[in-house]
Amino acid sequence: MNRKRFLYAMGVAPFAATLRLSAAGPAIQVFKTPSCGCCGGWVQHLKANGFQVTVNDVQDTAPVRKKYGVPDAMQSCHTAMVEGYAIEGHVPAADIQRLLKEKPKAKGLAAPGMPATSPGMDMEHGDAWDVMMFDAAGKATVYKHYAAK
Ligand code: CU
Ligand code: CU
Repeated sequence: MNRKRFLYAMGVAPFAATLRLSAAGPAIQVFKTPSCGCCGGWVQHLKANGFQVTVNDVQDTAPVRKKYGVPDAMQSCHTAMVEGYAIEGHVPAADIQRLLKEKPKAKGLAAPGMPATSPGMDMEHGDAWDVMMFDAAGKATVYKHYAAK
């Protein structure tokens, strides 16, 4: 092995691999029912924001919500897991990125119901809505408020 190749093998190659890894966004597992159109819209929104999405089609998301500790009051159409946090419903990518940066002591985030102007729903007009942060006891607080449009 010549010197240049040796240096590449010992130093540059692992460095390049690290760069590639850090350039990829967070891995997120999405659980949704096969026919859910707005769920697909949300998956596209995540991909457009750099998330590495794995989609799992399930017949019913209720057992997934239960497993990951999503309170019934926070219920929406799909459930996701990212770095140990549960994400319920049409939560914007920016709020998930903030969650992963701040790493609060919480179970996860939820956009309860189907807010009309949320990503994946994508209606031009709709009521004000909130992204909620919930803890293991089911206590929820407003994480981000979105105004009516
Ligand atoms: Cu939906
Ligand atoms: Cu959905």
